[in-house]
Amino acid sequence: MKPKICITEKEFYKAETVFRKTDAFKCIPVLAQEDILAKAIIDKNAFAAVLGVEAFVEQLYSALPKGGIIARFGVGHDGLDKQKATAAGLIVTNTPGVLDDSVAEHAIWLMGALARQVAVHDNNMKSQKWQPSSGIELKEKTLLILGCGNIGRKVAKIASFGLRMNVIAYDVVKLDAEQMKSQFGISRLLSNLDEAVAQADFISVHLPANKATKHFIGKDFLGKMRRDSFVINTSRGSIVDESALYDFLESGKIAGAGLDIFEKEPYMPVEVNKDLRELPRILLTPHIASSTVEACERMAKSCLRNIKAAFDKRYNELDIVNSDVLKELSNEQS
Ligand code: GLV
Repeated sequence: MKPKICITEKEFYKAETVFRKTDAFKCIPVLAQEDILAKAIIDKNAFAAVLGVEAFVEQLYSALPKGGIIARFGVGHDGLDKQKATAAGLIVTNTPGVLDDSVAEHAIWLMGALARQVAVHDNNMKSQKWQPSSGIELKEKTLLILGCGNIGRKVAKIASFGLRMNVIAYDVVKLDAEQMKSQFGISRLLSNLDEAVAQADFISVHLPANKATKHFIGKDFLGKMRRDSFVINTSRGSIVDESALYDFLESGKIAGAGLDIFEKEPYMPVEVNKDLRELPRILLTPHIASSTVEACERMAKSCLRNIKAAFDKRYNELDIVNSDVLKELSNEQS
């Protein structure tokens, strides 16, 4: 009998062919509700779970057997309790690299659509209104990349070499300026955030979610932005203080925003009377930056590869995010 994997439904159907085709495992779609998922894992005797972006912080960790795998279908693992996983002897993996192009492209589409008010014009046309108005070109505008990891670098590369924007970057990590320039077209790395923000026509956020980045784009940050500049977030919802963003957009203190991820998902306003969906100068998508046919197929394959490697105890081949757990699992093996 094939070993079993429970997969959250949305992710299963995003890459159904890959999950159905695998010879190594039996893949079972399950609702992404933690109590239901945990019960399914126990009932089916599954040793791994492939999970979407939702938070799983309770029953999951006692449902899987020791040495079992929690494979994130994606990169962000802020919805998982790594300490609990390690304490329970569970390996947590993710799928780095395989979704970068999709997310980077989405950040670029949001930026372009904001520059030309695509959503506003589309809405007008569909409401029988012919209301042409001028947008702005991206060429020679300054794009600030906040966070120069793989996705930030891809956005920089498309924007600089493709769209001929002036790309600058801010990161807390020390980076090689020469390499950033020649490979990704980043003209300047700035360590002074105020200076970086003041120059930017567009700001694209590519930060990880952690304590230090919570509400990084808040009142202070938004207050440094120019009235004619735009902010785009395709990284994590917790990074933008949506209440502050609402105020800045509503009062016209910044030009606009493009968001793919939110503090609460599915989207709900964080405060009554501050519904971002009611503002004209914002472009919203429902956490789909990594959801392309191509990236989903790659993410599914990457999850299965990680699960197989963990199952065969080839621990050095894992995209692991809680490597501490390996000490204990390896000790048991020897
Ligand atoms: C998507 O947002 C992911 O983290 O994979």
